[in-house]
Parts: sequence; C-alpha cells; structure tokens
Amino acid sequence: MNNFTFNIPTDIRFGRGQVECLPEELSKYGKRVLLVYGGGSIKKTGLYDTIKELLSDFEIYELNGIEPNPKLTSVEAGASVCKEKKVDVILAVGGGSVIDASKHIACASCYDGDAWDLVLDRSLVKKALPIAVVLTICATGSEMNSGAVITNEKTKEKLEINTPLLYPRLSVCDPTYLFTLPKKQTAAGAVDTLSHVMEQYFQPNDEAYITDELSEAVMRTVVKYAKVAYEVPTDYEARSNLMWASTLGLNHLLTVGKGGAWSVHPIEHVVSAFYDITHAVGLAILTPAWMESALSDETAPRFARFAREVFHVSEKDDMKAAVLGIEKVKAFNKSLDMPAKFSEVGIADERFEEMAKEAVRTSGIAKRSYVKMDEACVYEILEKCK
Ligand code: NZQ
Ligand code: ZN
Repeated sequence: MNNFTFNIPTDIRFGRGQVECLPEELSKYGKRVLLVYGGGSIKKTGLYDTIKELLSDFEIYELNGIEPNPKLTSVEAGASVCKEKKVDVILAVGGGSVIDASKHIACASCYDGDAWDLVLDRSLVKKALPIAVVLTICATGSEMNSGAVITNEKTKEKLEINTPLLYPRLSVCDPTYLFTLPKKQTAAGAVDTLSHVMEQYFQPNDEAYITDELSEAVMRTVVKYAKVAYEVPTDYEARSNLMWASTLGLNHLLTVGKGGAWSVHPIEHVVSAFYDITHAVGLAILTPAWMESALSDETAPRFARFAREVFHVSEKDDMKAAVLGIEKVKAFNKSLDMPAKFSEVGIADERFEEMAKEAVRTSGIAKRSYVKMDEACVYEILEKCK
C-alpha cells in the first residue's frame, strides 16, 4: 500500500431538514454572502425561498445562471462581485457545476491576475474564500472534495483546479432535494459515481485491499439503488444511499493507498469541452470502450474481480468473467436509458485526432494510468464509440 495523508475538513450535515444549520454556520465567516446557483431549479423547488428566509439577517448577493459544464466567464463574474462587495463566504446551492464554479470564484476573488492562471498553475492559489454547499444533485462528490472542473470557452479546454484550500467548509446533503431531479439527471449522477469509483479501483497499485473492498461496497450500492431512484424519484432509501455513495465516491477515501492517473475522465473532459454534452453521458459512452481496450491477459483478473464483486458474475474463468463484466456495465447504462454511442448525441469523428492529442496532453493517461494510453490508443477508443 502506498503512503497517504487523509484530511478532509468538510463538515457534512446529512439528512432531512439539515439546511436549518445555515444561519449559525455561515455567521462564523461573516454577514456578506454570495449565493451561487444554476438555471432556476432551486426557484421551482422552493429551496431558494427557504434559504432566503433562513438568511434574512445576512447581506446576500446573487450569481445565478451557472451552466452545466461551468464556464470561465461565470467565474469571472462571480469573482468581481466578491471583490467589489467584500463577500465573506460563498454559498453554492446546486450540483457539481455550481459548486465547481463557486470553488474557482473563491480563489479567483483572492487573486489579482487572470482567473484562468489559477487553473494552469495551482501554485498561484494562495488564498480562497470559505465555501458552504447545499447539494441538490448527487454525482460529482464536489461537496466533499477539493477539485473544480472549469471550461474555458475560448481555448476549448476543460481542466481541473485542485488544492486543499477549495474543500467546502460545510455541505448540507438532504436527500429529499433529489426528489425533483429529472430522470436524466438521476441516471447521470449514478453513472458518474460508478465511474469515479472505477477510476480509483482500476489503478496500477492493487495492494490496497481495504480500499478496494470499500470501493466494491460503494459500487454495489450504486448498482442496487440507481434504477430504484430512476423509477421512484421520492424513494428516500434509494436517494439517501446514492447521495452518500456519490460523496464517498470522490472524497479521497477510495484512493488512499493507491495512486495513478484516471483513465476515462480525462478523455470525457475533452469530449464535453469540445461538444458541451452532459459529463456522465460522455462517461457512459466511453467506459465500455475503455474497458474493452484495457482488457488483456494481464488485466483480466482485476476486471473479473470487478465483475464478480460488483455485478455478481459467477463465471470462474477470469477472461470470460471480465467480458461479462463489460456487458454488465453496458446493461447498467442501458437500464438508465443512457446513450451508448456518440452518434446518439450528435458527435461525429471529424475531431477525434485533435481530441486524442488533447486528452494525452492534459492528463497522465500516457504515463500513470492503469493501462497506459498513447494518442493512437485514445483515438481507437473514440472510434469504438462512434
Ligand atoms: O441549473 P439548474 O436549473 O439548477 O438545473 C440543474 C442542471 O441543469 C439540474 N438540477 C440540479 N439539482 C436539481 C436539478 N433539477 C431539478 N431538481 C434538482 N434538485 O441538474 C442539471 C445538472 O447539474 P450539474 O451541477 O451540472 O450536475 P453535476 O453535479 O453532474 O455536475 C457536473 C459538472 O461537474 C464536473 C463535470 O465535469 C461537470 O462540469 N465534475 C466535477 C468533479 C469534481 N468537482 O470533483 C468531478 C467530476 O468527475 C466532474 O468532472
Ligand atoms: Zn465525473
């Protein structure tokens, strides 16, 4: 097992009604709050009114309209409000897009240069405003991690900024807020969570037995409850288990003792930067193709273990079990009506070469991933997805 440090400073408040803690918790940082949210779902669900009422003694500034796959321009707008109004704390109400934009705003507000500099060179992040979160879609784990993924529309880059200063101080996770999610978003959240755990499970070091065991439990949880939440949006048991699974899926717990670069996310980030598709749609299309490409005599035992532990495949032969596991992943995605090919989301092959280059340039997939991939290999995976 590799050496590791494990230190997550986020205070999680999980369950019904936990939003009530906001006034007391936010007042620790000051009175001036930047309320960040998306395209309006929180107004439709009534959460906006609840929060405004709870925070009636605070000075609230608002930044709305954060788009899925959040853009640098939104970050710049938020940072300029924070600087001008001397904001004390940022309250992100939404999912990964709103939280990630808030994280980037938090550090861009404390920096005098161009906000994109901080993405290109994390060492420039010296300070950040505190962030609190009210989570309304479970998928990314951003509520309890230090990463933020931002798109620069001009350069067509979608890159991650990641530093301990960006951990939210507080995250309210109330599963009842998930009841209003459209089916498509419920499916996307489950696929993204499964992918996060797979990215950490399929890494070069396989001696971290305990971490892999925990990962399998989280993946089984996603497989067990995704379809339930998809069919019955108000099923609290399903929603609460999925919500905690997605937080655990990417809060660093499932990577301790392991190490290496992720395989599918770096390719997907290029796809969604070029075509602005839903992150998990890209993952659903790419994951089986990546598995097929990575499967070999050498990797078959691990793919077989995945198939047996997560999807209850009983086949004894490793290679056969591994192949069945790939079929199970395809079936899981299909059961949630996720697209299986790029053609279903309007992506043709004209930019595959450029995309393969970009995926290798912006990540460690060529050097540190489970099965190392060069540009030709990524190109082949993209071709398989046509
Ligand atoms: O904008 P509104 O109107 O709020 O609607 C949102 C949005 O359209 C809607 N929604 C959210 N909660 C809802 C709701 N609709 C009804 N009821 C509710 N309770 O859902 C849509 C999607 O929201 P978004 O925040 O984009 O989803 P998600 O949490 O999946 O975030 C995706 C972004 O996070 C990045 C992705 O690349 C993408 O940009 N990621 C961030 C990571 C991280 N910070 O650690 C890791 C991930 O791998 C990922 O890359
Ligand atoms: Zn993801």
